[in-house]
Order: sequence, then structure tokens, then C-alpha cells
Amino acid sequence: MLEIYDEARLANAGRYDLSDALEQGSIVHFPKSPVPIPEDDDLVFFREALPGLLKLKNISYHPEAGHVRGLDDADREVSERVTRVLVNVSEDIARFLQASAPALTDDWTVGTCSFRPIQEKGRDLKPHASNELVHIDAGAYGATNGDRILRFFINVNPADDRVWATKGRFPELYERYGSVANIRPDRVGAHYLEKGPLDHLRSGLLNGIASVGLPTAKVLDSSPYDRLMRRFHNFMKDTPSFQQATEGHQEFRFPPFSAWMVFTDMVSHASLSGQFAFVHTSIVRLANCRKPELAPYNILRESARTG
Ligand SMILES: [Fe+2]
Repeated sequence: MLEIYDEARLANAGRYDLSDALEQGSIVHFPKSPVPIPEDDDLVFFREALPGLLKLKNISYHPEAGHVRGLDDADREVSERVTRVLVNVSEDIARFLQASAPALTDDWTVGTCSFRPIQEKGRDLKPHASNELVHIDAGAYGATNGDRILRFFINVNPADDRVWATKGRFPELYERYGSVANIRPDRVGAHYLEKGPLDHLRSGLLNGIASVGLPTAKVLDSSPYDRLMRRFHNFMKDTPSFQQATEGHQEFRFPPFSAWMVFTDMVSHASLSGQFAFVHTSIVRLANCRKPELAPYNILRESARTG
């Protein structure tokens, strides 16, 4: 599942090598981050000052709104510094992805760029928000309608690895757990991916609100596909027997200043431990995938067709 790209392999990578690996459900790991790491004084500031200023789960730059969220009562200087660093990281990662996985970035949507200031191990979050439980990502980005969630991570802890676990990819997890999670057509009906009148009404309203100056309204949107994926996400986090299953279970360690990227709507994952990481999210068009049959949307659609 891990595809390791050191500097030499990355330098010789073909146009589709990285994007094909992602589409197949690999975690592409760069032992040395191919994206510049922020300056030392900024990193020290992020590590030392931001944990005490955290208001939300993470500190995130929202490009559609043009500002940072998650800082509690930050003064203007702090807020400007955090914004400057996160914008630089976001732009550097976007440039890298455009150069190294160009098949995926056409017409994409660049989402948030976050800093994770808190130790993941033992973090006291509600189960559905917990990163320590294995899950696929779903439902937190508005309506993807089957488009893909690509995330790029950089560990900026000076000493400690970031440790991940997985229990495998969506195709196998759906086969194994789809029925018990109530997301198969025999449980939810054969037309389960079709939008109803309420879906069209909601999307129309939210697009309207977004177009008159509140672009973040779009994250409230939903679709039958996104709700099914959310149901699967919740099933995973709510089911102790799934969390304890050894089938497909693997753990990975990402050392300081290494980076990795993965389709998190496809590859199940949990952050078992680690503190201080940048996380960049983008939404990739399903229409640009070269292996669309592996995408969760098409697996669900094929399942609806064949029963
Ligand atoms: Fe996740």
C-alpha cells in the first residue's frame, strides 16, 4: 500500500506514475518532503504558540473565504502570521501536485490547508471527530457528488514520527462491510445514488447564497452519495469490532519532515499518534480519474446496477 518516492524516483517519475498510484489506493510517501518546509522561526511559533490558541479541532486556512479559522481570540499579528504561513504551504503543495500529478489537478478545487497542533494520541474528541479511529473521509467538504478527496500531509514534528493505521481500501471494505453498514442497495434501495427534489433544492439554495458573497455556504451541501459515505464513515468509527479487526490492518510511520499523500475517500486511515503536521485538502474531479472503476462512487453505482 505504501509507494515510496525518494528524490531520485520522484525525479524520474512519469506523468501518470503518482496519480495512478493514488488511484490504485496507495499512500505515496516522500521520505524527504518535496514541498518546502516553513522557516524554523515560523515552525517554532506554530508548535509553541498555537496549541494554546486552538478553538476548533484544527487551525485551517479556507481559500474560498480567504481567512483562517480555529484560532481563539488571536491578535491581528498572530492571525496574519498564521495566514501567511498556511497560504504559502497551501500554494507550494498545490504547485507540487500540479507538476507531479497533472492528470488530477485539472478543474480541481483546492480546499483547506490546516495545521494540527495537538498530539493525536489520547486526544479527547467525540468518536465521529476522532482521528484515532480508522475511517474513510466523507461529508465534511460539502457535496462531492463522487469527486475524490485528496490529502497531502507534512510531518513537522522535530523528533517524533506520525503513526498511521489502515484497514484497507474502499473496494474491499465495501465488499466486507457494506451490508452490515447499511450502504448496499439491498438495504437502501436500488436508486440510492439518485438525487431527490430536496437535494436539488438544497444545492440550488446554497449555490445562490455562495454566489452572493458567502462562499463557505457550499460546505453545507450534501448529496445521496455523500450521505452514504458519511454513513460508512460513522459505521467504522462506531463499531468496535471493526476497529479491532486485524483483517487488512497495517501501520505506517512517517518520520519528521517527510510527506505523504492519499485519496482519503478510498484508503481507510487513523492517526494513532503524532503532533504538528500540515494537511492540505483538495477535491479532484472523478471525471479526471484514469481508473474510475476503483472510485467509491462507481463501486456504489455498479452495486446498484447489479444488485
Ligand atoms: Fe480522515
